[in-house]
Amino acid sequence: MEEEEFDIVILGTGLAGLRAALEATVESDGKLSIALISKLHAMRSHSVAAEGGISGVLYGEENKDSKKLHAYDTIKGSDYLADQDAVELLAQNAPNEILLMDHLGVPWNKDARNRINQRPFGGMTIPRTAFAQDKTGFFLMSALYNTITQFENIKVFHEHFATKLVMEGGEFRGICAIDLADGSFKFIRGGAGVIATGGYGRAYKTTTTSYSSTGDGTALAYREGISLKDMEFVQFHPTALVPNGILITEASRGEGGYLVNSKGERFMKNYAPSKMELAPRDIVSRAIATEFERGNGFKDSSSGMEYVGLDIRHLGSERIDTKLPMVKEIVMKSLGIDPSKEIIPVAPAAHFTMGGIHTSTLGHAMLDEKRQSSSLWAIGECGCVSVHGANRLGSNSLSQCLVWGKIAGEEMARKKIKVVNSKQAYKAAEAEQSRIAKMLERKGTQSVYLIRSELQEEMVRDVFVYRRVEQLKRAISVIGGLMARFEDAIITDKGRIYNTNLRDALEIGNLLDLAYATTLCALGRKESRGAHSMVEYPKRDDANWLKHSIVKMSAGKPKISYLPVAIKGFEPEERKY
Ligand code: FUM
Repeated sequence: MEEEEFDIVILGTGLAGLRAALEATVESDGKLSIALISKLHAMRSHSVAAEGGISGVLYGEENKDSKKLHAYDTIKGSDYLADQDAVELLAQNAPNEILLMDHLGVPWNKDARNRINQRPFGGMTIPRTAFAQDKTGFFLMSALYNTITQFENIKVFHEHFATKLVMEGGEFRGICAIDLADGSFKFIRGGAGVIATGGYGRAYKTTTTSYSSTGDGTALAYREGISLKDMEFVQFHPTALVPNGILITEASRGEGGYLVNSKGERFMKNYAPSKMELAPRDIVSRAIATEFERGNGFKDSSSGMEYVGLDIRHLGSERIDTKLPMVKEIVMKSLGIDPSKEIIPVAPAAHFTMGGIHTSTLGHAMLDEKRQSSSLWAIGECGCVSVHGANRLGSNSLSQCLVWGKIAGEEMARKKIKVVNSKQAYKAAEAEQSRIAKMLERKGTQSVYLIRSELQEEMVRDVFVYRRVEQLKRAISVIGGLMARFEDAIITDKGRIYNTNLRDALEIGNLLDLAYATTLCALGRKESRGAHSMVEYPKRDDANWLKHSIVKMSAGKPKISYLPVAIKGFEPEERKY
């Protein structure tokens, strides 16, 4: 087993992880050594796929906007499950993050006065989404990645797959990882640790997320007894391309695109008359699912999938080329049609996981409802801080990544946590190495790929936009069965070099655990709130359910408890759009 040691170990190299590394470097004047670990090349992290933009109030007075209004929109969008102190931090800090990214060279769309353009997004009262065409994530990542590679204190471990989070008494000791290039096993020790591995959209068959979105860090934390929060809340983006699920950005509607059903109606007038297509995503996705149930969908002849039409033809080629060039490219490459001439077939698909590792307001991983780790943080999509509550507003995730990356980086630099070289941690790493070796040697009978496709199909069938008690019970039983089969799964590739079969198996194990936790928490919540719509309990029930779900592994079994929501000035009210 190879060993390396750093002051800070960051697992995940998307926007949150890179931003944390940058802040810790700047704040410590480059004195803290930092490891950044990615299972991919760092620049292939899922953040590069973010399209439509990043939220933050830039020109408050002129636009009649304010941070308070940004906070209000976010809280209302969250169906009042967001913790309001966290939302305040988001609204306060997002503008500076956008300006920092401007200094680092992000090529924002700008107006004639050289001011950063902001466009409307769902659930936002004022246009406050800054954007660089519809490739915002890619440009933010490029700017940050180029910056961090200039610092000598940062070492990037590309293509290293993390198999274990080593904790001792609730404190971080290190990460075990396989170097995919040669199969070597490493124990990367650290004083402070950050998990920034994104969401687990790949638990679903139809998803806008990358193949890499398998919730690895969240699953590793869960196995170490760290609590997860609000796992039932999975966001379904209303406009994923049919049939392949690639994201067609909400910015298409922000720029003026319409949704139409097979009768040619702009059906959103029946669901959110004042906001129409720019209602929050939970509402638009439910509207589309309802249109399908009413027989008002189109049918894709090749896949059999239903869809509605996204019509951007009236925007004209020039606007599409300057503001939505990637939409055009995706649609032309995937379907061979020109969106300035034909409508785009879209349907809801899993897009973002609001739930994740339970954290404090400053991003510390929580060991249970109240007790926090002082050396482990969870930030970005994998950390449930909870700023999005039951439904995230589009463009708030990029701000979340940058804001909590900064917060965690700053804290780690201030605390200067020393590495603890304990025998117990070393033994845990050794045990992990032999677990992986045994997994590779195992003579199982089950195909991991069959398990994965059955899981993904089950999640779409029973844990999707609308949920029913019987369906969730069936999902629990199906996923439980798949977990049992996974114990008997075979890794057919026994090699060391780029063993993607082993990597896939480990990812599938992570997806199974998270899908099970999601379904269990969904079954537990007997109300409808945000993205969690229960057919038997169609209303939000603040009297009984204005609370976060916490799920924690206890003696090998998930245990659910609940935690109050932090209300700081915005009392829950009926959500109308
Ligand atoms: O539609 C989009 O561009 C997605 C943005 C987001 O999820 O924030």
